[in-house]
Amino acid sequence: MGFILALDQGTTSSRAIVFNAQAQVVASSQQEFEQIFPRAGWVEHRPEDIWNTQLACARGAIEKAGLKPSDIAGIGITNQRETTVVWNRKTGKPVYNAIVWQDRRTAAYCDKLREQGKAALIRRSTGLELDSYFSATKVNWILNNVPGARAQAEAGELAFGTVDSWLMWNLTGAAVHASDVSNASRSMLLNIKTLKWDSELLQLFDIPPSMLPQVCESSGEIARCDPAVLGAAIPIAGVAGDQQAATFGQTAFKPGEAKNTYGTGCFMLMNTGTEVVESHNRLLTTVGWQVNGRTSYMLEGSVFMGGAVVQWLRDGLGIIEKSADVQALAASVPSTDGVCMVPAFAGLGAPHWDPYARGTLVGMTRGTTKAHIARAALESIALQTVDLVQAMQRDGAKPLSELRVDGGASNNNLLMQIQADLLGAPVVRPTVTETTALGAAYLAGLAVGVFDTEESLLANWRVDARFEPKMSIDERGALLDRWHRAVERSKGWADA
Ligand code: G3P
Repeated sequence: MGFILALDQGTTSSRAIVFNAQAQVVASSQQEFEQIFPRAGWVEHRPEDIWNTQLACARGAIEKAGLKPSDIAGIGITNQRETTVVWNRKTGKPVYNAIVWQDRRTAAYCDKLREQGKAALIRRSTGLELDSYFSATKVNWILNNVPGARAQAEAGELAFGTVDSWLMWNLTGAAVHASDVSNASRSMLLNIKTLKWDSELLQLFDIPPSMLPQVCESSGEIARCDPAVLGAAIPIAGVAGDQQAATFGQTAFKPGEAKNTYGTGCFMLMNTGTEVVESHNRLLTTVGWQVNGRTSYMLEGSVFMGGAVVQWLRDGLGIIEKSADVQALAASVPSTDGVCMVPAFAGLGAPHWDPYARGTLVGMTRGTTKAHIARAALESIALQTVDLVQAMQRDGAKPLSELRVDGGASNNNLLMQIQADLLGAPVVRPTVTETTALGAAYLAGLAVGVFDTEESLLANWRVDARFEPKMSIDERGALLDRWHRAVERSKGWADA
């Protein structure tokens, strides 16, 4: 019984991975699902798609591993954060599509709250910027715009959850409505010091408390699966938001240790220990995890477009056939020849926080080719990360001795070299880049005894590749200067 099933419910696909007690991948299964864009700036998922693809992957991974459901000692859940689902407690049916973290429909509502001077109150309690990224304004939108939703919510008939809650509700056959502290800390409704729902904020966003899930630790048996769902009463023993899980998977357990994940977006998290550290440079303070009653906090820089920029080159522009082709195309030119891309397709996150910024491509000449644009796209991913590192350093972090990376696009060697060059610090990639799923497996495995202690996990982290910076200080300075000028041009473009 030394196996853990990690469910990794991401923004564009659901995945399930079976790990053994040596933290090795035994089998995995993945399914993409539809992204719905009803209007400019709106992004939705069907909650049923999230659940059905995740369930199919869970079953598929167990089968591929040649195991019976009862061989799985525990399930670890990790998920796209902030994405908001509201469903009816009796029927289990969502009242509206899931409103995805990238969705900007509540930007004007956030402006109104800012004008009313509410940003400081929100930051003090939740550690977050007042922004449409987080769940609170999305729940408010559903209650105000879906016919009948507010009356049902006030009658106690509706449940709100981030994706971890939605999966647990379905895995337990509607028996459990819970969310772990790391996911709850992204709702903009949780006081991150007391780890309790904040009644003042619930009032501000006009959300009935009866809709909220119970907040639980990130590691420990939260519930058991309904045997009718996966074929056994498997304990759900670990839950964390995907970026926090990736930090755990990178074994960044000590204060000062950081990682950057290149997924749909790019998310840099730095462990600040058991104390809440406030940012003065528009980074977020967030809960990392709670294990055995001990809460670890993080500083986070969130960038909304990371690997998704490459998807856009493929699906939007059609200049590459598959994502992996970007490396060869970008490497076919030595520089972008002055072209600079700001991928503010979903506005700008940290440290700018401008929901009205839009994608910008500047510096083109008649000599510009698709290769320059592909290279500018890769540079833009790395440049956004440099902005995060610099903001962390202004917040008092020590200079980075190296940057630990993971996520799909971290397998792109050219991108990693560009990252080291623009950062002026080495970039280190571990052998397992599936650190998000691994982190969830660790959290669950520690609870059910498949893994021993946090210290014992450190030995599983091994270097796959190290990228040393090669660019001169002058060249780096010039590229950063050009980038910051381009960022200013992208701001405030869309209508409020
Ligand atoms: O905050 C959003 C984040 O959790 C999404 O992660 O991996 O789907 O880009 P990912």
